Amino acid sequence: MVRSKRILFLAELTKGYNTVLDIGTDHGFVLEKAFEMGYIKKGIASDLREKPLKSAENNLKNYPVTFVISDGFLAIKEHFDLAVIAGMGAYLICDIMKHAPKEDITYILQSNDKTEILREFLHNNGFMITNEYLVKDKFFYVVLEVKRGKSLMSQEDFILGPILKMKPESCLLYNKKLEQIDKIYESADEKRKEELNKMRKIYKNNELC
Ligand SMILES: C[S@@+](CC[C@H](N)C(=O)[O-])C[C@H]1O[C@@H](n2cnc3c(N)ncnc32)[C@H](O)[C@@H]1O
Repeated sequence: MVRSKRILFLAELTKGYNTVLDIGTDHGFVLEKAFEMGYIKKGIASDLREKPLKSAENNLKNYPVTFVISDGFLAIKEHFDLAVIAGMGAYLICDIMKHAPKEDITYILQSNDKTEILREFLHNNGFMITNEYLVKDKFFYVVLEVKRGKSLMSQEDFILGPILKMKPESCLLYNKKLEQIDKIYESADEKRKEELNKMRKIYKNNELC
């Protein structure tokens, strides 16, 4: 089945793991692609709501998958070595990560917005970013690979990304961000203007582009 570049990319990142938990699975497309490509052995598809989980059940019926209604990690009992949380807002992913297991597993996180908020949360809550990727699909998507561990990020890293800031393709993203800041600046309130000014300065002064 043809899927978006974002879904294909997320599925690629499951390569080499045994059991992959997909939180907020919706249609189950990430797991479906991961199985189709032969990347994983087992899946746990979970969602907060029944309707999307039924849709995942339908798409994943030929694969070894457990289906669980769960708010984030809360009702997940089975062991997994990779958790994917993608296609949601940054604040929701932060809330879900507050209940992440203590074991040494890997997380693939992709928020649809405000990746800087997610990075700052990870930094303050005992997670380190081990890799970052930029996916250009309909929009730009930033995908984080995360583990538990000590993080050494600065304020600049929250915005630019500690690893993205060294990857040449990030210039496309930074320029897009500057355009977006210009577009929303005039209608922003004073507090937001202050934040936008800080972000603009960091995007402009990056050492990469
Ligand atoms: C926009 S879809 C993203 C689907 C897929 N992960 C992707 O990347 O395309 C978001 C899904 O997350 C689910 N969701 C929202 N809050 C959740 C939570 N606290 N725990 C688990 N799933 C949640 C929604 O029901 C919805 O199916």
